[in-house]
Amino acid sequence: MQGGKLVMIDQRLIPERFQLVEFSLVEEVARAIKNMTVRGAPAIGAAAAYGMALAAINGQDLASSAHLLKAQRPTAFDLFFAVDHMLEMLSKGEEPVKAASDYADSIVGRCRRIGERGERLIAEGAKVMTHCNAGALATVDYGTALAPIRVAWRSGRRFFVYVSETRPRLQGMKLTAYELRNEGIPHSIIVDGASGHFMRQGVDLVIVGADRIAANGDFANKVGTFEKAVLAKELDVPFYVAAPLSTFDFALESGRGIVIEDRGEDEVTFMEGRRIAPEGSSALNPSFDMTPSKYVRGFITEAGILPPRDIGKIKGDRM
Ligand code: MRU
Repeated sequence: MQGGKLVMIDQRLIPERFQLVEFSLVEEVARAIKNMTVRGAPAIGAAAAYGMALAAINGQDLASSAHLLKAQRPTAFDLFFAVDHMLEMLSKGEEPVKAASDYADSIVGRCRRIGERGERLIAEGAKVMTHCNAGALATVDYGTALAPIRVAWRSGRRFFVYVSETRPRLQGMKLTAYELRNEGIPHSIIVDGASGHFMRQGVDLVIVGADRIAANGDFANKVGTFEKAVLAKELDVPFYVAAPLSTFDFALESGRGIVIEDRGEDEVTFMEGRRIAPEGSSALNPSFDMTPSKYVRGFITEAGILPPRDIGKIKGDRM
């Protein structure tokens, strides 16, 4: 927060422009979550925490502000977790901005620890594949999938990253490549459909983020993740999911209960504001898909690297 306003990067403009935008109202923050000015599960959670702080400062009804924020994107559990955490803190009389900044700081600390826990998975000379953007932009700092990559790189290890472009919004090509380029990490962008081709040539490790993880380890992440997980199993490539505990929805028994956001067909049929599909052809646009836990070698969390069957052990460590 600066001068009573929430300041965020407009992620829709990267890599062309780095532009900050200011918000003074919870309604504006809700809009920014919906239109993906801010995106990535933990970053949406942190933005929503500040949205709740703005609602409290402006004397607005907290229950309806919470409802408004939660209604913007249904899949990312961090959004729900952050809003409920803020409701609890505010009901205890916590200073709103301090409560929100403590929440954002806790996310940064968790992501740093994910990096420290996971970096050993990346060997010298490794070829790593990731999907979408699970970097600092998606999490306030460090990232989830990009945190082990960042920490391994900063410790002097040298390796290569395949970045799948992530149709339709291109978070891989625009945001992950931007972060890796800024860090000096060698990488190439590949089209989503080329993942199997490169895995067969030799990928040592796939690391992705998650938007919601059920108690049995089934998880939702950006659409295309499920295909990568199946390919990885078929080709014997270890497949890891990096996420803070704020992404685990322990109340959900399995992935069947995860609501998958539908973002409408224009994201698919239009590119750079111009229709590229034939008039009269429709498109389907699920923003996420669900990957069963049997494809996951391990969850890289701030509490350690866990196989899906051990998720229950971390239930108590959330905040
Ligand atoms: O639609 P997005 O860009 O918000 O989707 C983001 C993802 O799917 C990320 O992989 C996920 O949120 C993990 S971010 C650390």
